[in-house]
Amino acid sequence: MSDRLAGQSALVTGSGRGIGQAIAMRLASEGAQVMVADIDLNAANDTVDLISKAGGAAWARHVDVTDRGSVNAMVGAVVARHGRLDVAVSNAGIMERMPFLEMTDDFWDRVIGLNLSGSFMVGQEVARQMVAQDGQDGQDARDARGGRIVFIASNSGIFGGRGRAAYGASKAGLINLTQSMAIELVEHNIRVNAVAPGPIKTSEAQGDIPPPSVMARMPLARFGRPEEVAAVAAFLAAEESSFVTGHVYGADGGYTVAGMMEG
Ligand SMILES: NC(=O)c1ccc[n+]([C@@H]2O[C@H](COP(=O)([O-])OP(=O)(O)OC[C@H]3O[C@@H](n4cnc5c(N)ncnc54)[C@H](O)[C@@H]3O)[C@@H](O)[C@H]2O)c1
Repeated sequence: MSDRLAGQSALVTGSGRGIGQAIAMRLASEGAQVMVADIDLNAANDTVDLISKAGGAAWARHVDVTDRGSVNAMVGAVVARHGRLDVAVSNAGIMERMPFLEMTDDFWDRVIGLNLSGSFMVGQEVARQMVAQDGQDGQDARDARGGRIVFIASNSGIFGGRGRAAYGASKAGLINLTQSMAIELVEHNIRVNAVAPGPIKTSEAQGDIPPPSVMARMPLARFGRPEEVAAVAAFLAAEESSFVTGHVYGADGGYTVAGMMEG
């Protein structure tokens, strides 16, 4: 693994398991000091153990991304420990389905509240810190930079899906949030991008073969792995993607671009 993020400070929300855990592990493997932030502190500690065993540097923190005070304190804790925040990955989210005609206000508010409003609060608190640190004297040129923000969206934010009115709307909103933040924050040396994963296998219960409705339009014909999303997030977090901002990268096995698969 490279040392693209050597000495940099990073945080990943929802990194106690699943895709967020893989992202935290990947950033740490590239040299970042990673805050593993999750509403489930035990899960966050498990991720820190995995990173430590692999030789990386990480620490756990409880956060509820739907609570402004909690998000503000999370960013403050990173700065208290490392003096700055170079990379933030806003990953915490829920994927729950409900038929549109039965969808309750509570359900809608819960999904939008975590996936979209939570990402807004994380993005804003992180960006305020990155603006404050932009241009500060540092040890090298990179230290004078604002930072990089990566949102984890979904291909469900790109097209419609059964039962996904709330989830899809939350992720579609997140994609536009990415674009608008990228434009407003560019003058502060902050780049903002998103990854839109397709179906990713995050638990054994999913089995090895995606359901037929997925396979029908999945050119790579398999679930993605959390590590394959993490690789894209790490690219967007690194200086290597220095001319990329406001973009949404699919990590979806070609699912989003597939049309007629046969004939
Ligand atoms: N798994 C997929 O196939 C898939 C596909 C596309 C997009 N995504 C997106 O990727 C992200 C991660 O998905 P996953 O499948 O790894 O999810 P997951 O349910 O496995 O993990 C989510 C993590 O977020 C944490 N979390 C939940 N609420 C929180 C809160 N309020 N504050 C802080 N942390 C909180 C959970 O404790 C958990 O550790 C989500 O945003 C999801 O929408 C997932």
